[in-house]
Amino acid sequence: MTVSDRRRAGRAVVVGAGHVGMIAAMRLAEANVFAEVVLVDVAGSRAEGIALDLTHTGALTGSGTAVRGVTTLADAGPADYVVVTAGKARTPGMSRTDLVSTNAAIVGSASDIAAHSPDAMVVVVSNPLDEMTYQLWRVSGFPAHRVVGMAGLLDSARFRALASVGGAGDVTGLDALALGSHGAEMVIPLSHAPQVMSALPSEDVAAIEDRARNSGGEVVGLLGDGSAFFGPGTAAARMVLAMVADSDEVISATVRPDGEYGLRDVYVGLPAVLGATGSARSSRSTSHPTNSGNCVTPPPASASGSRSCPETRSGQGVRAGRPPVARPRRGGR
Ligand code: LAC
Repeated sequence: MTVSDRRRAGRAVVVGAGHVGMIAAMRLAEANVFAEVVLVDVAGSRAEGIALDLTHTGALTGSGTAVRGVTTLADAGPADYVVVTAGKARTPGMSRTDLVSTNAAIVGSASDIAAHSPDAMVVVVSNPLDEMTYQLWRVSGFPAHRVVGMAGLLDSARFRALASVGGAGDVTGLDALALGSHGAEMVIPLSHAPQVMSALPSEDVAAIEDRARNSGGEVVGLLGDGSAFFGPGTAAARMVLAMVADSDEVISATVRPDGEYGLRDVYVGLPAVLGATGSARSSRSTSHPTNSGNCVTPPPASASGSRSCPETRSGQGVRAGRPPVARPRRGGR
């Protein structure tokens, strides 16, 4: 099937046209699965300018996805997927938690996502991630399986990249699944990183895990102005594309457990299956198929669009023969 044969459908909206939003929008546009990607930013014509620049790249990337830039969610139109990157970035010396009150207000104002895109699935990137994902879920009134946070996928990717650089082999052959909070409490269970464990001495693995845990801060320190964007933007787009593909891939995502692991009323990084109707926690202890969670590749099928995947659909990405997956409750919270 050629690129032009693919059916493009649905709309992805990226809130915030800062560095992370730009990269997320670029990845989503070049995937060529959406009819439209819309950037929203309150800052004058910035989103429009970036959208025009991205539009010019369609002829180079072979993507027919339309890209638009607007200043309000109302102008964006109803979305199937929303990526929330709005908020301030860290500066050197700041922890993610230092952003809590500033970004809570910004993310809270994104609550009109629910008004304009009542069926959307939302991926939150704003920091501090766990708290902002919780805040957006709370303010939106969306069921928890339609609001997920991006952190574990990025932390896993950092660990795998650093392990590869450290001699564990080609990054595409390395699995890892980072769990827990996005920050000092992040853990990578070593059973979830079998190739790295067998390739490197355990003290090297521990050092790599530590560096991965602190990689966001390391980039902040090196940039001197702003925080990482290639990794976060790519990882956020990758989560949206996993939902579009509706595969059974297990990804580390910030989700709201409903008693699993004894956890309730928090958002935290857990293994999850991201499907066409949102997230379902996976009880699988081993990671996704090698390679599949690793790169932003266009899913083979078209974007399905949440409106054609109603809340009442029972699959939640769970297919016959799969290990048991905790089903999200549907309807209200
Ligand atoms: C980082 C930001 C996204 O880890 O928290 O770079």
